[in-house]
Amino acid sequence: MRDIDQLLLANKAWSEGRRYDDPQYFDRLSSIQTPKYLWIGCSDSRVPADTITGTAPGEIFVHRNIANMVVHTDLNLLSVLEYAVHYLKVEHVIVCGHYGCGGVAASLTNNSFGIINKWLRNIKDVHRLHSAEIDVNDDPTERINRLVEFNVREQVQNLAKTSVIQRAWKERKAPTLHGWVYGLTDGLINPLCELQHDHELDPLYRFDNLD
Ligand code: CO
Repeated sequence: MRDIDQLLLANKAWSEGRRYDDPQYFDRLSSIQTPKYLWIGCSDSRVPADTITGTAPGEIFVHRNIANMVVHTDLNLLSVLEYAVHYLKVEHVIVCGHYGCGGVAASLTNNSFGIINKWLRNIKDVHRLHSAEIDVNDDPTERINRLVEFNVREQVQNLAKTSVIQRAWKERKAPTLHGWVYGLTDGLINPLCELQHDHELDPLYRFDNLD
């Protein structure tokens, strides 16, 4: 059997298993979607949002890209954010990076990766902001992991700088923003930071005319 056919076979078994356990499962799930969480994670195949958080289908709205970036010109991310925050009214937005991230590691090199260079440039900018604390580490793995942490914190700040989040904070005092880092070697999430609606945003980035 081809590898790809194995996926379809597993899907059939999963669907049948769900129906067997709970005959109304798909009727219930297909009629309404009310997740409380938006997950912005890395595309890395080893960091599946629902598996590592023990959440079921319907519980978590997911956006993933290389190195869990919040880039203000990324129409895909912004559309997901607007939909999750404004229409689904999620209570929490989680940016989850992971130690040993290949995207972050690539940004620490001087290698050209073609079109990916433009994406990695955003991580290099985070490195520049915190170079003193990152470059002081002799161990390359430590340098990667410190940049992973600074990057997550920076992407949470990037969320707070969007009009989508600022408007939601003004209107309904939610969502709470979270910065997490997942460990590939122990399967544990390290919560780094949390931002609430009363967060004192740098006035440079504050919008005063949100109605
Ligand atoms: Co990664």
